[in-house]
Amino acid sequence: MRYVTALALVACLLFPLSAFGAGAHDDLNCVECHSIHEAKDEIIFAVPGNTVDKNPETGLPFSGVTALCLGCHQTAEKGGQDILPIDAHMSHPYGLDTVNPKVARVPDKLLREGKFECVSCHDPHPSNPNYKYLRVDTDGGSNMQVFCAVCHPRKADPSVTATPPEIFDSMNEAM
Ligand code: HEC
Ligand code: HEC
Ligand code: HEC
Ligand code: HEC
Repeated sequence: MRYVTALALVACLLFPLSAFGAGAHDDLNCVECHSIHEAKDEIIFAVPGNTVDKNPETGLPFSGVTALCLGCHQTAEKGGQDILPIDAHMSHPYGLDTVNPKVARVPDKLLREGKFECVSCHDPHPSNPNYKYLRVDTDGGSNMQVFCAVCHPRKADPSVTATPPEIFDSMNEAM
């Protein structure tokens, strides 16, 4: 028994990051994304945003909210902080100025000034209970089709689109 406890302790020392776990942004606190005194952008963002990583669509650095996310979630080589870098897990397009209506039908409230950003798929606030801060409940990631169908309804099984899922949105305090 004591041996097992010692092993667990060693594991904690070896892998201290496992302390993060679920609710990843909870530990960030509001002020690591927003700063009241050092406003850098429209939504008083605290981090300057990634200016190194280039958008393949435009050849320029990413802008707005997406640049904020990439300030942390990109490899250090590409101007981020190596925190779950997007290059490691995503090939889906993001940071688009326009959306081809033949490929996707994005609900208006998920676009930011007409653009398709990280926040079109994620609401990063600690209040969001969904798996990976996704906009809809995917049952812990086991029912991803519900999520994809939000913007690609014609590709989904009709039983999925028959009852549209609730879209999580922290941006309206009036509700
Ligand atoms: C991971 C980064 C992150 C954290 C942590 C975070 N926010 Fe945000 N916040 C954002 C982003 C990104 C937006 C814009 C979201 C959008 O456009 O959907 C935003 C938008 C907002 C807005 C709306 C601003 C406007 O102009 O309408 C408020 C208010 C806000 N956040 C408050 C908070 C508070 C309070 C906390 C802590 C409880 C917090 N945020 C934590 C990233 C963050
Ligand atoms: C200040 C740095 C920072 C910024 C800015 C930031 N994040 Fe994070 N994010 C983190 C950290 C730290 C974690 C937890 C990492 C871990 O678990 O190893 C995390 C985790 C996540 C996760 C995984 C959540 C889970 O449940 O596993 C998602 C999704 C995410 N962030 C999306 C975003 C999006 C979208 C934005 C921009 C709106 C954003 N983040 C901006 C630091 C940041
Ligand atoms: C088309 C929708 C979509 C867009 C756009 C998108 N994501 Fe995600 N993201 C997902 C999905 C789905 C997952 C969960 C994948 C899984 O675990 O199966 C995810 C997972 C993540 C994670 C967690 C990775 C991990 O290893 O746990 C982070 C961090 C993240 N996204 C950040 C971002 C950032 C930053 C952007 C913009 C640069 C972004 N996402 C754009 C859909 C999207
Ligand atoms: C919030 C809206 C949104 C969600 C949710 C979403 N997508 Fe997309 N998807 C888009 C947009 C926007 C594009 C790019 C349209 C364009 O080319 O202009 C796209 C493009 C694609 C493409 C074509 C990729 C390419 O390189 O041309 C595939 C495949 C795809 N999505 C699959 C998925 C899958 C699978 C999911 C669920 C895991 C998903 N999408 C969730 C909006 C979304």
